[in-house]
Amino acid sequence: MEKEIKARVDSLLGQMTLEEKAAQMIQVSFRHLGREKSLEWAKRGAGSFLFAMGEDAKELQQAALSSRMGIPLLFGIDAVRGHSVNDHATVFPTQLAAASTWDKEAVREMGRVTAKEVASEGLHWTFSPLLCLARDPRWGRVDETFGEDPYLTGEMAAAIIHGYQGDDLRNSDSILACAKHYFAYGEAVGARDACDSEITRRKAKEVFLPPFQKAVNAGCATFMTAYGSMDGTPFTANSWALKEMLRQEMGFEGFVVTDWGNMTSLMTQQFVAETPEDAAKLAAEAGNDMMMSSEEFFDTAVSLVRSGKMAESVLDEAVGHILAVKIRMGLFENPFRQGDPKCLGCPAHRDAALNVARESITLVRNDGVLPLNPTQKVAVIGANGDDIRAQYGDWTYFSHPLPDPEKEPVRPYVTVKEGFEALSKNVVYCRGCGPMPCAKDDLDAALDIARDADVIVHVVGDMIDQVGEAKDRANLDLSGRQSELHEKLAALGKPLVTVLLASKPSTITREAARSNAVVIAFNGGMFGGQAVAEAVYGVFNPSGRLPISFPHHAGQVPVYYNALPGWHFGPNARYCDLPAGPLYAFGEGLSYTDFAYEDLTLDADTLQARVTVTNTGDRAGRETVQVYFRDCVSSVLTPVKQLIAFRQVDLQPGEKKTVSFQLNRMDFSLVNAKEQRVVEPGKFLLMIGHSSKDADLLKTEFTLS
Ligand code: BGC
Repeated sequence: MEKEIKARVDSLLGQMTLEEKAAQMIQVSFRHLGREKSLEWAKRGAGSFLFAMGEDAKELQQAALSSRMGIPLLFGIDAVRGHSVNDHATVFPTQLAAASTWDKEAVREMGRVTAKEVASEGLHWTFSPLLCLARDPRWGRVDETFGEDPYLTGEMAAAIIHGYQGDDLRNSDSILACAKHYFAYGEAVGARDACDSEITRRKAKEVFLPPFQKAVNAGCATFMTAYGSMDGTPFTANSWALKEMLRQEMGFEGFVVTDWGNMTSLMTQQFVAETPEDAAKLAAEAGNDMMMSSEEFFDTAVSLVRSGKMAESVLDEAVGHILAVKIRMGLFENPFRQGDPKCLGCPAHRDAALNVARESITLVRNDGVLPLNPTQKVAVIGANGDDIRAQYGDWTYFSHPLPDPEKEPVRPYVTVKEGFEALSKNVVYCRGCGPMPCAKDDLDAALDIARDADVIVHVVGDMIDQVGEAKDRANLDLSGRQSELHEKLAALGKPLVTVLLASKPSTITREAARSNAVVIAFNGGMFGGQAVAEAVYGVFNPSGRLPISFPHHAGQVPVYYNALPGWHFGPNARYCDLPAGPLYAFGEGLSYTDFAYEDLTLDADTLQARVTVTNTGDRAGRETVQVYFRDCVSSVLTPVKQLIAFRQVDLQPGEKKTVSFQLNRMDFSLVNAKEQRVVEPGKFLLMIGHSSKDADLLKTEFTLS
């Protein structure tokens, strides 16, 4: 800790009573406790509130400042895709859609806009980004991730954290980022939310911790502990993870907050604590600094220290971490800091959301039917084609802080249908059916308008009831009667474009085979529908690349590209009844132009790699050049390929660019059986190209001594 900050922290700690220290470690939900109880907690010296906004936050801050110590409160909120729990804010695409852009600058800007809007309400902190890997698409929170890959996730994490925190935490439009959920939450067995992650410490260091390390390097001010467990120890009780790794090895200097009620769940869900006292002691001693929504920590911590069962120094350390962040962000000097209220949902911010939505659109199949021409008569079909709730998905004002089915959507937003109508006069729409069977389903009406059209656009996907915490799916097929309708539409023999507007990969092998084009849109936020329509009509040239592999079937999961080698591997590997590989691979994505790769070179001394990329088509386009490697022989199994760099190039028709990458020795490292990160000398394969698929990669072998 910086010297002056430490001196201030020590001086504050020296003046605080035991009760004031215990209170500082508590984060209270305003929404759940209500005004009266919240005010009591503020006066008692609670450290933070979540879900308090605007005037409520001001009143609580006033109460905290008038308490004996007058330590200002921190206000946190789940602004995970824009400040989207506020219904007038800018709603960005989900993290998964944002990762499909592979555009660090666009993602940094998403963080910056979010920070400005969150700060405009006097709030200080977002519980974002989520850095768990989505290696099992059945998990309900895949939409909140940056996909399946540790490298891409880490790069996106650093970008959005820089956006949130800005140049200086003291600026009134900077907010604290929170890297969550530490760690491997997405790896829960069977994708059962918050259950055990079957991983080892070595695997944690190899795969799951690197994105969090990048968050630390980017200066991320806070971390949130994961709900689950690893090798019999809940992450909330894991001092190896929270102290040895996070503080000592990774160099984290901020503070750690538990997830919702996570301290209590040591007793009520995970059964490693018998009493609230046991739970409080476990969580605090393991290294959690702030307890989210576990107010019983207050009494139990005080009594634990009084009875000599827990050292007061445990509280001192935790409170010290919290106070240091409050000091670093200048909260004592400026407790009512607030950004510009006029920026909420302003045109410049909406442009940023539209930009991310456009760049996220990923075209994975096209036999030439796209782009469409506005003179063609188009039938847009499917409930998700005109349902802003489905387009938004999770973590917006429809679902948080509390689910609200009655909530009226707030303009502006553009659904797919509206996006089409804005670009062509020859569009008709019919709901047909949606992800959940309901009385409104009318397949015949959809078939009637389809019969009359030149092209059918079927928008399929999932909806809000199928997404989120504890909403894991065992079956990834299109739900309701969507598949049946798709089959009937295909039988009409007209050009068929399938748009997947969903929180995550669905198993759409049959639908894809019947389609002339497939567009992956995920949840594109307020302008997601506009982005889909513009891509389909070729207003812009799509450049999204999948940040996650698409399985053919849930029974094939996992299908992530950076698998370990084994018998079940290689071009001919199969289950008896299905291919082993995915329908669509990590990194895949088409364009309305073509790119050719040649002249891959690597200087084995300087580790500078180069490749030449040419736009061989007749439209300008953006290519994402992806760099993978494989360690040919290693002491432990290493992935068949692993992404270590990427760069985006914009190319005019016929234009050629040489793209170079300065790689580092440690890019080729592994974590050995002794859990040390090392580079093992020997042969390596470098692969550069358009996607993670072998057919898309140029390869060169080299030796590291
Ligand atoms: C989620 C977190 C979220 C927190 C506060 C929890 O249930 O797991 O991601 O930040 O609630 O809303």
